[in-house]
Amino acid sequence: MSTEIIMAVIMNLLLLLLSAALVRSGPSMLPLKSFKISGNVTYDCIDIYNQPGLDHPLLKNHTIQMKSSISRSEFKNPTDNDKTYKKKIRCPDGTVPILRNSKDYITNPQYFHPLSQNRPEAHIAGVRSNNGPFRGIEAWFNGYALNISTDEASYSEIYIGSGSDKEVNFISAGFMINPSIFGDGRVWTYGFWHGKDGKGCYNTVCPGFVQVSHEVPLVEPFDLKPGVPVWLRCSIYQDKQTENWWLTFLSKPNVDIGYWPKELFNLINNGANVVGVGGVVQASPSGSSPPMGTGKFPTGDRRASAMFTNIEALNSNYEQRKISSFHMEKLLDSPNCYGLRIGTVKPFHRTLLGYFFNYGGPGGNSCGV
Ligand SMILES: *[C@@H]1O[C@H](CO)[C@@H](O)[C@H](O)[C@H]1NC(C)=O
Ligand SMILES: *[C@@H]1O[C@H](CO)[C@@H](O)[C@H](O)[C@H]1NC(C)=O
Ligand SMILES: *[C@@H]1O[C@H](CO)[C@@H](O)[C@H](O)[C@H]1NC(C)=O
Repeated sequence: MSTEIIMAVIMNLLLLLLSAALVRSGPSMLPLKSFKISGNVTYDCIDIYNQPGLDHPLLKNHTIQMKSSISRSEFKNPTDNDKTYKKKIRCPDGTVPILRNSKDYITNPQYFHPLSQNRPEAHIAGVRSNNGPFRGIEAWFNGYALNISTDEASYSEIYIGSGSDKEVNFISAGFMINPSIFGDGRVWTYGFWHGKDGKGCYNTVCPGFVQVSHEVPLVEPFDLKPGVPVWLRCSIYQDKQTENWWLTFLSKPNVDIGYWPKELFNLINNGANVVGVGGVVQASPSGSSPPMGTGKFPTGDRRASAMFTNIEALNSNYEQRKISSFHMEKLLDSPNCYGLRIGTVKPFHRTLLGYFFNYGGPGGNSCGV
């Protein structure tokens, strides 16, 4: 081949690559600014009206809600090692931070939601109430570094939902370690939903979640030393005016992260039948189950194991009540491998309520997968 032909071939290839890149991002998707917060974690500030979350077919006519219509009480986190709200990202007004390339890591996006009757590869330790309708759930809880292999996942989460296996509407948020989603074994905040289209999806990997905060993204990694937790107080609740489902991090000040629009759902528009909180793990197809919580069984020393506290639900009239004022059930399906210890203490801090539980355990090969 002559050099001329080779040059022409190369030029054509370059043009092809360039046009593919343009089609994929589109001029409106070009980030105005980017924040690289660690090695391979970059957030792009995307125009709020052009964020990928709005690409869902059910959101064709959706009008973005900029602010939740329910004001939640603010919360001063008394722990010293709270890393959650250290702001590393400040997108310009009118733009929102979207994790770059998160699509690349998805290899196994299934998720066994706790409303399922049938979860052969998942285990759970927590509490829930079926006495809905509920307008929301909130809790204060922690996440710990754990060694999780690439075909396993471990979650600490709050959730709301209605339905069961045939048809379910479900939203959860909290911490997860899920190497198949994130490409690393760190603790990340996350959000997950399953709607009337019959599909489930994490984070902003596929459309559905509308990010509103320009400083706090839905997903963010934490570099934790073993045994040193990161704390999160968050709430999933339904907007009184729009019926959208908000995710708010309760702090000082509160941050409305964003919401799952009501158009995505058909069973929870008048509230959710079930609310719950706790740990969930997804076992490896090989049969081994990963650690949950701190990776140790709760011992009775409440500060030594993973914890959920200040668990409150919004009843059908949007009134906030302690979870212990509703009928509750304990969930623990594999006591060989995980523990659940419900405790009550006299309030030892004015921000800490009486009801809490510790949970977690090492997992292993005899958890009943
Ligand atoms: C959007 O609005 C148009 C016109 O009112 C309507 O025909 C269409 O069904 C709507 N799409 C969705 C997804 O709601
Ligand atoms: C994970 O495993 C490594 C190597 O065995 C160990 O050094 C580390 O402490 C473990 N981390 C946790 C959180 O257990
Ligand atoms: C991203 O960085 C983390 C931590 O530096 C590393 O463990 C992980 O393997 C990286 N992921 C990818 C997909 O390169």
